[in-house]
Amino acid sequence: MLIVKNIGQLATAEGQRARSGDGQGAIRVLKDAYLVADDRGQIVQTGTGRAPELPGAEVLDAEGCLVTPGLVDAHTHLIFGGWRAHELMLKLQGVPYLEILAAGGGILSTVRATRAASEAELAEKGGKALAKMLSLGTTTCECKSGYGLDLETELRQLRAVKRLNGSQPVELVSTFLGAHALPPEYAGNREGYVKLLTDTVIPQVAKEGLAEYCDVFCETGVFDREEAEQILRAGQKYGLRSKIHADEIDAIGGSQLAGELRAVSAEHLIAAPDAGIASMAAGGTVAVLLPATSFYLEKPFARARAMIEAGVPVAVATDFNPGSCPCLNLQLAMSLACYKYRMKPEEVLTAVTLNAAAAIGRADRLGTLEPGKQADLLIWDAPDLEHSFYRFGENQVKTVVKKGAVVGR
Ligand code: NIG
Ligand code: FE
Repeated sequence: MLIVKNIGQLATAEGQRARSGDGQGAIRVLKDAYLVADDRGQIVQTGTGRAPELPGAEVLDAEGCLVTPGLVDAHTHLIFGGWRAHELMLKLQGVPYLEILAAGGGILSTVRATRAASEAELAEKGGKALAKMLSLGTTTCECKSGYGLDLETELRQLRAVKRLNGSQPVELVSTFLGAHALPPEYAGNREGYVKLLTDTVIPQVAKEGLAEYCDVFCETGVFDREEAEQILRAGQKYGLRSKIHADEIDAIGGSQLAGELRAVSAEHLIAAPDAGIASMAAGGTVAVLLPATSFYLEKPFARARAMIEAGVPVAVATDFNPGSCPCLNLQLAMSLACYKYRMKPEEVLTAVTLNAAAAIGRADRLGTLEPGKQADLLIWDAPDLEHSFYRFGENQVKTVVKKGAVVGR
Protein backbone atom coordinates (compact mmCIF):
# COMPACT_ATOMS: atom_id res chain seq x y z
CA MET A 1 0.00 0.00 0.00
CA LEU A 2 1.22 3.49 -0.86
CA ILE A 3 0.09 6.84 0.50
CA VAL A 4 1.19 10.07 -1.16
CA LYS A 5 0.63 12.89 1.30
CA ASN A 6 1.14 16.66 1.34
CA ILE A 7 0.32 17.05 -2.35
CA GLY A 8 0.23 20.81 -3.03
CA GLN A 9 -1.76 20.33 -6.22
CA LEU A 10 -3.08 17.09 -7.70
CA ALA A 11 -3.87 17.69 -11.37
CA THR A 12 -5.46 15.03 -13.54
CA ALA A 13 -7.71 14.50 -16.51
CA GLU A 14 -10.73 12.30 -15.81
CA GLY A 15 -12.38 9.30 -17.37
CA GLN A 16 -11.52 6.35 -19.56
CA ARG A 17 -11.85 7.95 -22.98
CA ALA A 18 -9.97 10.58 -24.95
CA ARG A 19 -11.11 14.14 -24.26
CA SER A 20 -11.75 16.65 -27.03
CA GLY A 21 -12.94 20.22 -27.49
CA ASP A 22 -13.50 22.03 -24.19
CA GLY A 23 -13.11 18.68 -22.44
CA GLN A 24 -9.42 18.58 -23.41
CA GLY A 25 -8.62 21.28 -20.84
CA ALA A 26 -11.31 20.42 -18.27
CA ILE A 27 -9.12 18.66 -15.75
CA ARG A 28 -9.65 18.02 -12.04
CA VAL A 29 -7.46 20.02 -9.67
CA LEU A 30 -7.27 19.23 -5.93
CA LYS A 31 -5.39 21.45 -3.50
CA ASP A 32 -3.74 20.02 -0.37
CA ALA A 33 -4.47 16.50 -1.48
CA TYR A 34 -3.49 12.89 -0.90
CA LEU A 35 -3.66 9.65 -2.85
CA VAL A 36 -3.86 6.04 -1.70
CA ALA A 37 -2.93 3.00 -3.79
CA ASP A 38 -3.42 -0.65 -2.84
CA ASP A 39 -0.94 -3.53 -2.96
CA ARG A 40 -1.80 -4.30 -6.59
CA GLY A 41 -0.69 -0.78 -7.51
CA GLN A 42 -4.22 0.48 -8.10
CA ILE A 43 -5.50 3.82 -6.91
CA VAL A 44 -8.21 3.36 -4.28
CA GLN A 45 -8.71 6.91 -3.07
CA THR A 46 -7.84 10.53 -3.67
CA GLY A 47 -8.98 13.38 -1.45
CA THR A 48 -8.15 16.67 0.20
CA GLY A 49 -6.94 17.45 3.68
CA ARG A 50 -5.07 15.08 5.97
CA ALA A 51 -4.04 11.76 4.45
CA PRO A 52 -5.37 8.66 6.21
CA GLU A 53 -2.90 6.78 8.39
CA LEU A 54 -2.79 3.15 7.42
CA PRO A 55 -0.53 0.72 9.26
CA GLY A 56 2.18 -0.83 7.11
CA ALA A 57 1.69 1.57 4.21
CA GLU A 58 4.64 3.20 2.49
CA VAL A 59 4.29 6.97 2.83
CA LEU A 60 5.61 9.38 0.22
CA ASP A 61 5.72 13.03 1.22
CA ALA A 62 5.09 15.26 -1.82
CA GLU A 63 6.21 18.28 0.25
CA GLY A 64 3.59 20.59 -1.18
CA CYS A 65 4.49 19.89 -4.81
CA LEU A 66 2.49 19.12 -7.94
CA VAL A 67 1.41 15.51 -8.58
CA THR A 68 0.19 14.34 -12.01
CA PRO A 69 -0.33 11.01 -13.73
CA GLY A 70 2.80 9.43 -15.23
CA LEU A 71 3.51 10.63 -18.75
CA VAL A 72 2.54 8.44 -21.70
CA ASP A 73 4.74 8.80 -24.79
CA ALA A 74 2.38 7.61 -27.55
CA HIS A 75 4.81 7.81 -30.48
CA THR A 76 8.42 6.67 -30.49
CA HIS A 77 10.76 4.73 -32.75
CA LEU A 78 12.62 3.40 -29.72
CA ILE A 79 14.45 0.44 -31.24
CA PHE A 80 17.17 1.20 -33.81
CA GLY A 81 20.83 0.57 -34.57
CA GLY A 82 23.37 3.40 -34.82
CA TRP A 83 22.73 7.13 -34.86
CA ARG A 84 22.76 9.72 -37.66
CA ALA A 85 24.96 12.47 -36.29
CA HIS A 86 26.55 12.81 -39.75
CA GLU A 87 23.21 14.21 -41.03
CA LEU A 88 23.45 17.27 -38.80
CA MET A 89 25.81 19.07 -41.18
CA LEU A 90 23.54 18.26 -44.16
CA LYS A 91 20.59 19.63 -42.24
CA LEU A 92 22.50 22.80 -41.37
CA GLN A 93 23.37 23.20 -45.05
CA GLY A 94 19.66 23.06 -45.82
CA VAL A 95 19.40 19.61 -47.43
CA PRO A 96 15.71 18.58 -46.97
CA TYR A 97 14.82 15.51 -44.89
CA LEU A 98 13.09 13.69 -47.78
CA GLU A 99 16.06 14.41 -50.07
CA ILE A 100 18.45 12.70 -47.65
CA LEU A 101 16.10 9.70 -47.64
CA ALA A 102 15.76 9.66 -51.43
CA ALA A 103 19.57 9.57 -51.70
CA GLY A 104 19.66 6.35 -49.65
CA GLY A 105 20.41 8.01 -46.31
CA GLY A 106 17.97 8.96 -43.58
CA ILE A 107 15.74 6.06 -42.54
CA LEU A 108 17.64 3.75 -44.93
CA SER A 109 20.92 4.48 -43.17
CA THR A 110 19.33 3.43 -39.87
CA VAL A 111 17.95 0.32 -41.60
CA ARG A 112 21.49 -0.77 -42.46
CA ALA A 113 22.62 -0.29 -38.84
CA THR A 114 19.54 -2.04 -37.45
CA ARG A 115 19.89 -5.05 -39.75
CA ALA A 116 23.46 -5.43 -38.46
CA ALA A 117 22.42 -5.42 -34.78
CA SER A 118 21.36 -8.43 -32.69
CA GLU A 119 18.16 -8.57 -30.66
CA ALA A 120 20.21 -8.27 -27.46
CA GLU A 121 22.08 -5.22 -28.77
CA LEU A 122 18.84 -3.53 -29.82
CA ALA A 123 17.24 -4.28 -26.46
CA GLU A 124 20.25 -3.00 -24.55
CA LYS A 125 20.26 0.26 -26.46
CA GLY A 126 16.48 0.67 -26.10
CA GLY A 127 16.79 -0.05 -22.39
CA LYS A 128 19.27 2.79 -21.93
CA ALA A 129 16.89 5.20 -23.62
CA LEU A 130 13.99 3.95 -21.49
CA ALA A 131 15.95 4.56 -18.28
CA LYS A 132 16.41 8.20 -19.33
CA MET A 133 12.77 8.51 -20.33
CA LEU A 134 11.66 7.13 -16.97
CA SER A 135 13.78 9.67 -15.12
CA LEU A 136 12.02 12.36 -17.18
CA GLY A 137 8.59 11.06 -16.16
CA THR A 138 7.61 8.71 -18.99
CA THR A 139 5.95 5.65 -17.44
CA THR A 140 4.39 4.17 -20.60
CA CYS A 141 5.76 4.24 -24.12
CA GLU A 142 4.68 3.19 -27.59
CA CYS A 143 7.45 1.70 -29.78
CA LYS A 144 7.36 1.34 -33.55
CA SER A 145 9.36 -1.07 -35.65
CA GLY A 146 10.30 0.07 -39.15
CA TYR A 147 14.07 -0.01 -39.33
CA GLY A 148 14.22 -3.59 -40.56
CA LEU A 149 12.04 -3.51 -43.65
CA ASP A 150 12.45 -7.27 -43.98
CA LEU A 151 10.69 -10.06 -42.13
CA GLU A 152 13.58 -11.07 -39.94
CA THR A 153 14.68 -7.63 -38.78
CA GLU A 154 11.17 -6.29 -38.23
CA LEU A 155 10.45 -9.30 -36.00
CA ARG A 156 13.79 -8.77 -34.23
CA GLN A 157 12.90 -5.16 -33.42
CA LEU A 158 9.51 -6.19 -32.07
CA ARG A 159 11.06 -9.00 -30.05
CA ALA A 160 13.50 -6.52 -28.53
CA VAL A 161 10.48 -4.49 -27.36
CA LYS A 162 8.88 -7.63 -25.93
CA ARG A 163 12.10 -8.43 -24.08
CA LEU A 164 12.18 -4.93 -22.57
CA ASN A 165 8.53 -4.96 -21.60
CA GLY A 166 8.51 -6.23 -18.04
CA SER A 167 12.29 -6.23 -17.57
CA GLN A 168 12.31 -2.51 -16.67
CA PRO A 169 9.57 -0.23 -15.27
CA VAL A 170 8.32 1.56 -18.41
CA GLU A 171 5.30 -0.25 -19.88
CA LEU A 172 5.63 -0.71 -23.65
CA VAL A 173 3.08 -0.96 -26.46
CA SER A 174 4.24 -2.25 -29.87
CA THR A 175 3.38 -0.95 -33.31
CA PHE A 176 4.38 -2.62 -36.56
CA LEU A 177 5.71 -0.02 -39.00
CA GLY A 178 7.12 -2.19 -41.79
CA ALA A 179 5.82 0.46 -44.18
CA HIS A 180 8.35 3.05 -43.03
CA ALA A 181 10.31 3.23 -46.31
CA LEU A 182 10.82 1.16 -49.44
CA PRO A 183 13.79 -1.16 -48.79
CA PRO A 184 16.59 -1.08 -51.38
CA GLU A 185 15.92 -4.71 -52.43
CA TYR A 186 12.50 -3.62 -53.66
CA ALA A 187 13.60 -0.47 -55.51
CA GLY A 188 11.36 -0.33 -58.58
CA ASN A 189 9.01 -2.96 -57.14
CA ARG A 190 6.74 -1.12 -54.73
CA GLU A 191 3.93 -3.57 -55.30
CA GLY A 192 6.18 -6.45 -54.34
CA TYR A 193 7.05 -4.84 -51.01
CA VAL A 194 3.45 -3.98 -50.19
CA LYS A 195 2.55 -7.60 -50.96
CA LEU A 196 5.35 -8.85 -48.70
CA LEU A 197 3.94 -6.74 -45.87
CA THR A 198 0.28 -7.65 -46.38
CA ASP A 199 0.73 -11.36 -47.17
CA THR A 200 3.75 -12.38 -45.11
CA VAL A 201 5.02 -9.94 -42.49
CA ILE A 202 1.71 -8.71 -41.05
CA PRO A 203 0.31 -12.25 -40.65
CA GLN A 204 3.52 -13.36 -38.93
CA VAL A 205 3.62 -10.35 -36.58
CA ALA A 206 0.00 -11.05 -35.64
CA LYS A 207 0.59 -14.78 -35.25
CA GLU A 208 3.45 -14.18 -32.82
CA GLY A 209 1.48 -11.50 -30.96
CA LEU A 210 4.32 -9.03 -31.45
CA ALA A 211 2.29 -5.86 -32.10
CA GLU A 212 -1.08 -4.33 -31.30
CA TYR A 213 -0.99 -1.64 -33.99
CA CYS A 214 -0.07 -1.29 -37.64
CA ASP A 215 1.28 2.05 -38.88
CA VAL A 216 2.29 3.42 -42.32
CA PHE A 217 4.48 6.39 -43.26
CA CYS A 218 2.06 7.98 -45.76
CA GLU A 219 4.24 10.64 -47.40
CA THR A 220 5.51 11.91 -50.74
CA GLY A 221 8.02 9.39 -52.10
CA VAL A 222 7.31 6.90 -49.31
CA PHE A 223 3.82 5.26 -49.33
CA ASP A 224 0.86 6.90 -51.02
CA ARG A 225 -2.71 6.92 -49.81
CA GLU A 226 -3.77 3.79 -51.75
CA GLU A 227 -0.79 1.78 -50.51
CA ALA A 228 -1.37 3.00 -46.96
CA GLU A 229 -5.00 1.89 -47.15
CA GLN A 230 -4.04 -1.54 -48.45
CA ILE A 231 -1.51 -2.07 -45.67
CA LEU A 232 -3.71 -0.74 -42.86
CA ARG A 233 -6.66 -2.86 -44.02
CA ALA A 234 -4.43 -5.94 -44.06
CA GLY A 235 -3.41 -5.07 -40.50
CA GLN A 236 -7.05 -4.74 -39.45
CA LYS A 237 -7.81 -8.13 -40.98
CA TYR A 238 -5.22 -9.65 -38.65
CA GLY A 239 -6.37 -7.71 -35.58
CA LEU A 240 -3.80 -4.90 -35.70
CA ARG A 241 -5.54 -1.57 -35.11
CA SER A 242 -4.56 1.33 -37.36
CA LYS A 243 -2.22 4.24 -36.81
CA ILE A 244 -0.83 6.41 -39.56
CA HIS A 245 2.06 8.85 -40.05
CA ALA A 246 -0.04 11.42 -41.88
CA ASP A 247 0.66 14.84 -43.40
CA GLU A 248 4.08 15.14 -41.74
CA ILE A 249 5.58 17.04 -44.63
CA ASP A 250 3.03 16.94 -47.47
CA ALA A 251 -0.74 16.54 -47.25
CA ILE A 252 -1.37 13.55 -49.52
CA GLY A 253 -4.59 12.31 -47.94
CA GLY A 254 -3.32 10.56 -44.81
CA SER A 255 -5.53 12.37 -42.32
CA GLN A 256 -8.62 11.85 -44.48
CA LEU A 257 -7.79 8.14 -44.70
CA ALA A 258 -7.30 7.97 -40.92
CA GLY A 259 -10.87 9.09 -40.27
CA GLU A 260 -12.31 6.85 -42.99
CA LEU A 261 -10.57 3.78 -41.57
CA ARG A 262 -11.49 4.83 -38.01
CA ALA A 263 -7.80 4.71 -37.20
CA VAL A 264 -7.04 4.91 -33.48
CA SER A 265 -4.59 7.72 -34.20
CA ALA A 266 -3.11 9.87 -36.94
CA GLU A 267 0.33 11.21 -36.10
CA HIS A 268 2.44 14.27 -37.04
CA LEU A 269 -0.26 16.16 -39.02
CA ILE A 270 1.92 19.24 -39.58
CA ALA A 271 0.29 19.86 -42.95
CA ALA A 272 -3.18 18.46 -42.16
CA PRO A 273 -5.89 20.20 -44.21
CA ASP A 274 -9.36 21.10 -42.88
CA ALA A 275 -10.88 18.10 -44.65
CA GLY A 276 -8.45 15.79 -42.85
CA ILE A 277 -9.25 17.36 -39.48
CA ALA A 278 -12.99 16.94 -40.14
CA SER A 279 -12.44 13.32 -41.15
CA MET A 280 -10.50 12.58 -37.96
CA ALA A 281 -13.23 14.19 -35.86
CA ALA A 282 -15.87 12.05 -37.58
CA GLY A 283 -13.80 8.88 -37.26
CA GLY A 284 -12.98 9.29 -33.57
CA THR A 285 -9.25 9.40 -34.38
CA VAL A 286 -6.79 10.85 -31.85
CA ALA A 287 -4.31 13.38 -33.30
CA VAL A 288 -0.85 12.55 -31.96
CA LEU A 289 1.18 15.74 -32.41
CA LEU A 290 4.97 15.83 -32.29
CA PRO A 291 6.20 19.38 -31.72
CA ALA A 292 9.84 18.44 -31.12
CA THR A 293 9.92 17.06 -34.68
CA SER A 294 8.61 20.35 -36.09
CA PHE A 295 11.33 22.10 -34.12
CA TYR A 296 14.10 19.77 -35.28
CA LEU A 297 13.04 19.58 -38.94
CA GLU A 298 12.42 23.34 -38.94
CA LYS A 299 8.86 22.76 -40.12
CA PRO A 300 5.67 24.56 -39.16
CA PHE A 301 3.88 23.50 -35.98
CA ALA A 302 0.71 21.45 -36.42
CA ARG A 303 -2.60 23.29 -36.09
CA ALA A 304 -3.44 21.99 -32.66
CA ARG A 305 -5.97 24.72 -31.89
CA ALA A 306 -7.92 24.01 -35.08
CA MET A 307 -7.99 20.32 -34.17
CA ILE A 308 -9.17 20.98 -30.62
CA GLU A 309 -11.86 23.33 -31.91
CA ALA A 310 -12.99 20.72 -34.45
CA GLY A 311 -13.45 18.16 -31.66
CA VAL A 312 -10.38 16.02 -32.40
CA PRO A 313 -8.73 14.75 -29.19
CA VAL A 314 -5.10 15.86 -29.21
CA ALA A 315 -2.20 13.86 -27.76
CA VAL A 316 1.41 15.06 -27.68
CA ALA A 317 4.42 12.73 -27.95
CA THR A 318 8.17 12.90 -28.60
CA ASP A 319 8.63 10.90 -31.87
CA PHE A 320 12.00 9.84 -30.45
CA ASN A 321 14.02 8.46 -33.40
CA PRO A 322 17.56 8.83 -34.80
CA GLY A 323 16.60 11.13 -37.70
CA SER A 324 13.78 13.62 -37.38
CA CYS A 325 13.78 13.85 -33.58
CA PRO A 326 16.73 12.48 -31.60
CA CYS A 327 15.09 13.64 -28.36
CA LEU A 328 13.34 11.45 -25.80
CA ASN A 329 12.31 14.21 -23.40
CA LEU A 330 8.51 14.39 -23.30
CA GLN A 331 8.74 17.39 -20.96
CA LEU A 332 10.37 19.34 -23.81
CA ALA A 333 7.53 18.32 -26.16
CA MET A 334 5.07 19.54 -23.49
CA SER A 335 6.81 22.92 -23.33
CA LEU A 336 6.75 23.26 -27.12
CA ALA A 337 3.07 22.24 -27.23
CA CYS A 338 2.28 25.01 -24.78
CA TYR A 339 4.41 27.75 -26.37
CA LYS A 340 4.09 26.82 -30.07
CA TYR A 341 0.68 25.13 -30.35
CA ARG A 342 -0.66 27.60 -27.78
CA MET A 343 -2.24 24.81 -25.83
CA LYS A 344 -3.11 25.60 -22.21
CA PRO A 345 -1.21 23.67 -19.54
CA GLU A 346 -4.40 21.76 -18.70
CA GLU A 347 -4.84 20.78 -22.36
CA VAL A 348 -1.23 19.63 -22.62
CA LEU A 349 -1.56 17.57 -19.44
CA THR A 350 -4.52 15.71 -20.97
CA ALA A 351 -2.52 15.36 -24.21
CA VAL A 352 0.38 13.51 -22.54
CA THR A 353 -1.72 11.41 -20.16
CA LEU A 354 -5.34 10.44 -20.90
CA ASN A 355 -5.38 11.20 -24.63
CA ALA A 356 -1.98 9.60 -25.12
CA ALA A 357 -3.21 6.52 -23.25
CA ALA A 358 -6.29 6.46 -25.52
CA ALA A 359 -4.02 6.61 -28.57
CA ILE A 360 -2.45 3.31 -27.47
CA GLY A 361 -5.59 1.65 -26.13
CA ARG A 362 -4.79 2.05 -22.44
CA ALA A 363 -7.25 4.74 -21.34
CA ASP A 364 -9.29 2.25 -19.31
CA ARG A 365 -6.31 1.60 -17.04
CA LEU A 366 -3.84 4.51 -17.38
CA GLY A 367 -3.69 8.27 -17.90
CA THR A 368 -5.60 9.66 -14.89
CA LEU A 369 -5.37 9.61 -11.10
CA GLU A 370 -8.74 8.13 -10.18
CA PRO A 371 -9.86 5.11 -8.17
CA GLY A 372 -9.56 1.97 -10.29
CA LYS A 373 -6.70 3.27 -12.42
CA GLN A 374 -3.11 2.15 -12.05
CA ALA A 375 -1.01 4.27 -9.68
CA ASP A 376 1.44 5.70 -12.23
CA LEU A 377 2.29 9.16 -10.96
CA LEU A 378 4.89 11.88 -10.78
CA ILE A 379 5.91 14.33 -8.08
CA TRP A 380 7.18 17.51 -9.72
CA ASP A 381 9.68 20.07 -8.54
CA ALA A 382 6.96 22.71 -8.94
CA PRO A 383 4.08 23.85 -6.75
CA ASP A 384 1.46 23.64 -9.49
CA LEU A 385 0.80 22.99 -13.16
CA GLU A 386 1.15 26.62 -14.19
CA HIS A 387 4.60 26.83 -12.63
CA SER A 388 5.76 23.60 -14.28
CA PHE A 389 4.82 24.97 -17.71
CA TYR A 390 6.21 28.42 -17.05
CA ARG A 391 9.68 26.91 -16.64
CA PHE A 392 11.32 24.74 -19.29
CA GLY A 393 14.50 23.02 -20.37
CA GLU A 394 15.38 21.06 -17.23
CA ASN A 395 14.03 17.88 -15.71
CA GLN A 396 11.28 19.04 -13.38
CA VAL A 397 10.24 15.54 -12.30
CA LYS A 398 11.44 14.62 -8.80
CA THR A 399 9.84 11.24 -8.12
CA VAL A 400 8.41 8.60 -10.44
CA VAL A 401 5.89 5.99 -9.27
CA LYS A 402 4.91 3.09 -11.54
CA LYS A 403 2.12 0.71 -10.51
CA GLY A 404 2.31 1.90 -6.91
CA ALA A 405 6.09 1.51 -6.57
CA VAL A 406 8.71 4.26 -6.47
CA VAL A 407 10.91 3.61 -9.52
CA GLY A 408 12.85 6.83 -9.73
CA ARG A 409 13.80 9.82 -7.63
O1 NIG B 1 8.22 9.97 -37.39
N1 NIG B 1 8.38 10.07 -40.46
C1 NIG B 1 8.82 8.95 -40.41
N2 NIG B 1 9.46 8.42 -39.40
C2 NIG B 1 10.09 9.14 -38.39
C3 NIG B 1 11.47 9.50 -38.75
C4 NIG B 1 12.29 8.33 -38.89
C5 NIG B 1 13.73 8.64 -39.17
O2 NIG B 1 14.08 9.69 -39.74
O3 NIG B 1 14.52 7.75 -38.83
C6 NIG B 1 9.25 10.29 -37.95
O4 NIG B 1 9.58 11.46 -38.13
FE1 FE C 1 7.40 8.93 -36.20
